[in-house]
Amino acid sequence: MKNQSQNPFSSGGKAMNVAPLSLVKLLSCLFFFVFGLTFGIILCFNYKSFSFNLLVTNRHFSIFTSSTMTTTSNTSSNNNNREFLEPPNVIMHDMNDQELLWKASMIPRIQEFPFKRRPKIAFMFLIRGPVLLAPLWELFFKGHEGLYSIYVHSDPSFNESEPQGSVFHGRRIPSKKVEWGQVNMIEAERRLLANALLDFSNQHFVLLSESCIPLYNFSTIYSYLTNSTQNFVEAYDLAGPVGRGRYSHLMLPVIKLDQWRKGSQWFEMDRDLAIEVIADNIYFPVFQNYCNGSCYADEHYLPTFVSMKFGGKNSNRSLTWVDWSKGGPHPAKFIRTDVTPEFLEKLRSGNSCEYNGKKTNVCFLFARKFTLNALDRLLRFAPIVMHFNM
Ligand SMILES: *[C@@H]1O[C@H](CO)[C@@H](O)[C@H](O)[C@H]1NC(C)=O
Ligand SMILES: *[C@@H]1O[C@H](CO)[C@@H](O)[C@H](O)[C@H]1NC(C)=O
Ligand SMILES: *[C@@H]1O[C@H](CO)[C@@H](O)[C@H](O)[C@H]1NC(C)=O
Ligand SMILES: *[C@@H]1O[C@H](CO)[C@@H](O)[C@H](O)[C@H]1NC(C)=O
Ligand SMILES: *[C@@H]1O[C@H](CO)[C@@H](O)[C@H](O)[C@H]1NC(C)=O
Ligand SMILES: *[C@@H]1O[C@H](CO)[C@@H](O)[C@H](O)[C@H]1NC(C)=O
Repeated sequence: MKNQSQNPFSSGGKAMNVAPLSLVKLLSCLFFFVFGLTFGIILCFNYKSFSFNLLVTNRHFSIFTSSTMTTTSNTSSNNNNREFLEPPNVIMHDMNDQELLWKASMIPRIQEFPFKRRPKIAFMFLIRGPVLLAPLWELFFKGHEGLYSIYVHSDPSFNESEPQGSVFHGRRIPSKKVEWGQVNMIEAERRLLANALLDFSNQHFVLLSESCIPLYNFSTIYSYLTNSTQNFVEAYDLAGPVGRGRYSHLMLPVIKLDQWRKGSQWFEMDRDLAIEVIADNIYFPVFQNYCNGSCYADEHYLPTFVSMKFGGKNSNRSLTWVDWSKGGPHPAKFIRTDVTPEFLEKLRSGNSCEYNGKKTNVCFLFARKFTLNALDRLLRFAPIVMHFNM
């Protein structure tokens, strides 16, 4: 039994003795060769339509798999396609990072949307525990449903959930540990971007911390971002140990010293740039390998990558105000007594910069670092100074 099913090549010696059988084999081999050749030629001529068919099949496949990932038990395919077009409110999923980044990097070839859509802004909170200044943000978002989406990345050890009815309820994405200065901070930022990209309506992406506050009301920030022709990723060249000093020659030949940039990690970018960031598998691995720890990847990866590849569309400034005037590795914190209408007014309009090629005094839309005990004053002044509608 075992011998009969053996590989014919291993028993080649015996087969040579049976002449008629080998002639039949030879003829059949020739037949298959000619048949194969003909088939190959036909296939070559039809290559164009063949590859097109393959593309169509692939697209069907990706829509099908993506919808099965987001729904657990409902397998009605009509329903699932709807959810692919307009993502459901539940943002939890069981994709790992590799699967998530791959799925989020897909770009529709047809530019027009097959459904009614208003561009949304994705507010992405990179935080440790709870959203500290949640009541202020609740006030900020109130009345603007449908024009924003919220994503929260917090420490995996934090297991409390925001209360039902809060805009932050159910907005946590699958998160991993983040350590200050480590390259895993960028991994978390890419995770936030990828989750937000799954919703096709999100056109602008803002990264915020737990100590960030908005300096303007929602409608002003929405117009500022949606009308902007540029991205807001701060980038500058800095000599000395905390600038070029953090560059490593091991990054050659991908990144040269004169391409090394520094800037704040708190960015605002459009959908095109967000896709480039999560799809980057050339520059980011260099940072993963050679910019971990005291290199502070969060202050260099985006400024360097964006300047090298997409500098022309970058404003090179940040929209998030912060006070470095006190010195040291961390910016100044603001407590209750610091928060006055004059102080907030100064942050809102006491600066000068360019917006869409014109001079303006609206340079910062957000500010940090505000502590929890400043919350009651912020809530009190927001409607007056920031024109939050009540
Ligand atoms: C699937 O969806 C349909 C329509 O929304 C609903 O009526 C049905 O109960 C769902 N089935 C399951 C198993 O959730
Ligand atoms: C959250 O974690 C703490 C310990 O860190 C534990 O005591 C508590 O039961 C957890 N709560 C929930 C809702 O899982
Ligand atoms: C800015 O965008 C808003 C809506 O996003 C629009 O109503 C407004 O006209 C725009 N302003 C300018 C100056 O383009
Ligand atoms: C980065 O450094 C930390 C410790 O400093 C280490 O735990 C981590 O594995 C390193 N990550 C990479 C990707 O090398
Ligand atoms: C920002 O820097 C890039 C080069 O990195 C440059 O091409 C671009 O013009 C700069 N943008 C502005 C607004 O100055
Ligand atoms: C938002 O603030 C601007 C001033 O920054 C004000 O003109 C506008 O009326 C406010 N919008 C709402 C809806 O309150």
